[in-house]
Amino acid sequence: MADAEHIIWHQTTVTKTDRERRSEHGGAVVWFTGLSGSGKSTLANRVEHELFKRGIHTYLLDGDNIRTGLNSDLGFSAADRKENIRRISEVAGLFVDSNAIVLTAFISPFQADREAARQRVADDEFFEIYVKCPLEVCEKRDPKGLYKKALAGQITAFTGITSPYEEPPAPDLIIDTSEQSLEEGTQNVIDLLEKNRVIGNK
Ligand code: ADX
Repeated sequence: MADAEHIIWHQTTVTKTDRERRSEHGGAVVWFTGLSGSGKSTLANRVEHELFKRGIHTYLLDGDNIRTGLNSDLGFSAADRKENIRRISEVAGLFVDSNAIVLTAFISPFQADREAARQRVADDEFFEIYVKCPLEVCEKRDPKGLYKKALAGQITAFTGITSPYEEPPAPDLIIDTSEQSLEEGTQNVIDLLEKNRVIGNK
């Protein structure tokens, strides 16, 4: 742990307010949570594309990608997942400070970790999207063949099989990908951002 006593925050000349004035949208975290194979990455990717087409400054942080770089030292124990989400929350907070809309696609199975992520930014800058999908459907989709391996005991602590997923008790939005189309889900997220004035109506 760094000696925090001797770390002093350096106030930058260019502030978040300056950045906000320059663009026509605010910064925010759009946090997608759900089981592996629920469709988080697909939905986040599609929402980002929609926002990008509107000229919005966006960035997508995706579990599998971040785990090959920044978080390549982390595994899937509860402690490592907590650290994974803590780092992502910090990175997401920096993106919000840059006035970007950052989309995150992580299983983020623990409510306490997601709550900590929310606390990292202002109340009106965090949107939790629960990408809901029955476990049986995720198992059937199994896009990476990981459920098959987990059920065969070849992967330990696999979310939904041998590691828990805590459903969000009060998400800002629920998208059920076993019932809603990708277009519909995307539109619902865009509507949420418009309703909360993160982006303007178009
Ligand atoms: S989290 O639980 O720490 O939020 P994260 O979203 O970063 O997980 O990574 C999940 C991805 O890692 C899954 O989509 C899957 O491809 C892969 N993965 C590998 N092992 C596991 C495991 N034991 N549990 C869940 N996902 C795993």
